[in-house]
Amino acid sequence: MEHLSKYSDALRKRLEETVAVQEPEQLYEPIRYILKLGGKRLRPTLTLLSCDFFSDEYEKAMNAALAVELFHNFSLIHDDIMDEAPLRRGKETVHERWDLNTGILSGDAMLILAYQLFEYYEPALFQQLAILFSKTAIQVCEGQQYDIDFENRDDVTLLEYLKMIEYKTAVLIGAAMKMGAIVAGASESCKKNIYAFGLNLGMAFQLQDDYLDAFGDPKTFGKQVGGDIISNKKTYLYLKAYENSNQMQADELDGLYSIHPKDPSDKIASVKMIFQHSGAAKAIQQEIETYTEKANEVLEAINISPENKQKLREFGDWLMKRNV
Ligand code: IPE
Ligand code: IPE
Ligand code: MG
Ligand code: MG
Ligand code: MG
Repeated sequence: MEHLSKYSDALRKRLEETVAVQEPEQLYEPIRYILKLGGKRLRPTLTLLSCDFFSDEYEKAMNAALAVELFHNFSLIHDDIMDEAPLRRGKETVHERWDLNTGILSGDAMLILAYQLFEYYEPALFQQLAILFSKTAIQVCEGQQYDIDFENRDDVTLLEYLKMIEYKTAVLIGAAMKMGAIVAGASESCKKNIYAFGLNLGMAFQLQDDYLDAFGDPKTFGKQVGGDIISNKKTYLYLKAYENSNQMQADELDGLYSIHPKDPSDKIASVKMIFQHSGAAKAIQQEIETYTEKANEVLEAINISPENKQKLREFGDWLMKRNV
């Protein structure tokens, strides 16, 4: 994946400029903090990759890429408030380190800074980017609301779950890639197909995130392992385990997902055992593969070189093998 370093170096430099010291400190310091923690930066990388593959240039997609990463980081700060998460990228979450109000306002500011970056584009591009971005952002909000609603529902279906992760996660990855294609001036069908590629990759990506949330290594994952179990999130693992259960096992799962113990370690251990024994842990791996394959199928219809298609396939494989 060394071919990606040109993008990551350029991104790092521009992100540092974006977060130069500004007043008031209480607003900008948390923004600097979350951005400096880095993360995988997969969304802006995909924007630059996409633009590069469609036009042989990536610099012109830099502002769109930064916008996507700022939006993503805004959504993480607010997501951590909603999920009561203590850890992000191996460090304290913004609302833990500062407080709730700081997390809310710094997040809001990042969302606005993200929109401002589109102002660098000429009107026709600006309009296309802003329309896609707004549609995506409202879908992310809808997905996030479903995610929270599902915590208190016991009749969530797999289909509902898939819609929820499509909205909260996959659409932004699709949009990140489509923005690169828009800036590159790619054809309508290429824009549509690269979005579909990103969307399917995004589905696989969120499924993998759910898997790692339960089975990731606390030393590398950077987030609280078991956080989804603590919050009674209705993930694919839970829904599959439930589907595969007999009445007694289902009752046990119901019981575990109705409690909020002070020390959650026993609850997490019991739920993980059920995820394993029920075959849910295996099933989610298969589902991740299915979505990755779907993404690769869409790739066939896209008008880029076979070498670049191969690079996108490798990117997908790398994502699915991650432990972060
Ligand atoms: C976390 O996204 C939120 C999800 C949609 C799962 P990432 O796993 O891309 O987070 P960072 O940016 O690499 O930290
Ligand atoms: C996050 O889903 C989706 C968004 C931030 C919009 P998660 O709640 O699973 O993300 P993590 O696991 O906290 O990164
Ligand atoms: Mg979360
Ligand atoms: Mg969440
Ligand atoms: Mg998660």
